[in-house]
Amino acid sequence: MKFTTGAALSALALSFASLPAFAGDIEAGESAFQSQCQNCHNVANEDGEVLAGRPNMRTGPNLYGVFGRQPGTVEGFRYGASLVEVGESGVVWDEEVMVPYLLDPTTFLRETLDDRRARSQMSFRVRDEATARDIIAFLGQFGSVDAEEDAAEEGS
Ligand code: HEC
Repeated sequence: MKFTTGAALSALALSFASLPAFAGDIEAGESAFQSQCQNCHNVANEDGEVLAGRPNMRTGPNLYGVFGRQPGTVEGFRYGASLVEVGESGVVWDEEVMVPYLLDPTTFLRETLDDRRARSQMSFRVRDEATARDIIAFLGQFGSVDAEEDAAEEGS
């Protein structure tokens, strides 16, 4: 059953490519973000309004609008060289890229760059894939590329 649902969801995602479609549960993702991510990250929009997490949290980069964005590109954040290199290789954050990153950032960087010396400055791992997908669904609400395009259209 699980696979059938997954296939149906991917078909949906394909047919509604312009809608952000994430598999996880937003509410479960919110509590997982609070217990696992907000010690290092927050989500703050262009006006500096903090939408998730605490103000002045700069241990990890701001995760606002992370989907559709090139890894390692939040202005003013000092990333490790490996994540920047992954971004420069043409990778863009989406659900399928972020799941393995969250489960094991170092292995993700090493495999993506085919370099066993690649290093991650994020020393944290999410324990299971379902939780990773929940957190992704939660983060997907904030400033996705699609949401911004919609907002721009409404504004014009
Ligand atoms: C101990 C602090 C810490 C925790 C906890 C943490 N992160 Fe990170 N995160 C970082 C750091 C530092 C970086 C920058 C990594 C680098 O430069 O290699 C990062 C990078 C990232 C990136 C890449 C962002 C970009 O701009 O390309 C994502 C996505 C991310 N973290 C998501 C999460 C999520 C989701 C959680 C919770 C499950 C989490 N992180 C938990 C410190 C943390």
